[in-house]
Amino acid sequence: MQNFNFHVPTKILFGREKVNEIGKEIKKYGSRVLLTYGGGSVKKIGLYDQVVNQLKENGISFFELSGIKPNPRVTSVRDGVEICRENAIDFILAIGGGSVIDASKAIAAAVNYDGDAWDFPMQKAKVKDPLPLGTVLTLAATGSEMNGNAVISNEETQEKRGMASNALRPKFSVLDPTYTFSVNKYHTAAGTVDIMSHIFENYFAPGNGTFVQDAIAESIMKTCLKYGPIALEEPENYEARANLLWAGSLALNGLTLTGKMMGDWATHGIEHEVSAIYDLTHGAGLAIIHPVWMQYVLTEKTAPKFAQMARNVWNIEEPEDMKAAEDGIKAVRAFFNSLEMPARLSDVDIPGDHFDAMAEKACYFGKIGSFKRLDPKDVYAILDKAL
Ligand code: NZQ
Ligand code: ZN
Repeated sequence: MQNFNFHVPTKILFGREKVNEIGKEIKKYGSRVLLTYGGGSVKKIGLYDQVVNQLKENGISFFELSGIKPNPRVTSVRDGVEICRENAIDFILAIGGGSVIDASKAIAAAVNYDGDAWDFPMQKAKVKDPLPLGTVLTLAATGSEMNGNAVISNEETQEKRGMASNALRPKFSVLDPTYTFSVNKYHTAAGTVDIMSHIFENYFAPGNGTFVQDAIAESIMKTCLKYGPIALEEPENYEARANLLWAGSLALNGLTLTGKMMGDWATHGIEHEVSAIYDLTHGAGLAIIHPVWMQYVLTEKTAPKFAQMARNVWNIEEPEDMKAAEDGIKAVRAFFNSLEMPARLSDVDIPGDHFDAMAEKACYFGKIGSFKRLDPKDVYAILDKAL
């Protein structure tokens, strides 16, 4: 196990009606809030009204940025930065899923930066002095509510890129499982895949002696196996929604990466190229790419880790590592299929005609992946096998 520092300063307010604590929390940081949300789900579920009441009751003035789309665009970020500057905003409150939270983080980073917001995802600028932000999460998936990452799309250049800074970790996040009751089957399934995929990215990575981290990762995978299907069938099952919600935060707050040099993250890099061009739901893209990546990087050397997952998560009793690994990968595919996620790019009408450019862009900053290093030829091969 490698040395590490682990510090997650985000305060989690978990459970029913926890939204009633946001006024008190926000007042620790500011009094002029930018309230950000997406296409209207927060109004349908009554969350918007609850939040507005809280702000009013606590004498907090607020301005709004609405209409943030899934795969959030840098144009929304620029709009938000303008509102913040014009109105001397000192706190951002994001209510919604990962897209709303990510756009809000990018706004927070850019308000006090003397350049364009797209500089951060392009790694041309480092986050300094961001506005503080808080979140009320409505979808179990990205972990954005407890990490410092944001993923932003640029329609003009057809790029989707991540930015990360510990300074962007939310000050607090409200996780009330009842807000996720209204998430439809497709996004519930995509969110479950995303959570599992975050676990895979740090689990299938170089390093050893991390028994406890692996055991946590395996528990989170089992949580998805147990509760994903229940949430699909019984959307208002509190236990299922609560377990998925907390699993999502734990899967990508840094916990499972502790003690390791790095995660793999090639699959996410490849999926981001797919959704950058085709605006596909992130989790649906991962359901296609992750099993293909697993098969592609499976060798005698990597087989033991895949076999470990097969045995500990899927209860596969095969003694031979390579055979167990293959059975484990088949089990992952079968589980994603059972969630009615797409299995191939052609299932979502994505053709192969941009694969060259996508492979180059995925490796824009150099080779990707750590379990196996991948160059553009490898990325092309993975996309081709996913067709
Ligand atoms: O726009 P609204 O009306 O809110 O509808 C959203 C959206 O259509 C809807 N939704 C959210 N909560 C709902 C709800 N519908 C009904 N009831 C609710 N309670 O769901 C749709 C998808 O929302 P979105 O925020 O896009 O989903 P998700 O949370 O999966 O976020 C995906 C984005 O996060 C990025 C992805 O690439 C993608 O852009 N990621 C962010 C990461 C991070 N910050 O750490 C890591 C991830 O790997 C990922 O890349
Ligand atoms: Zn993801």
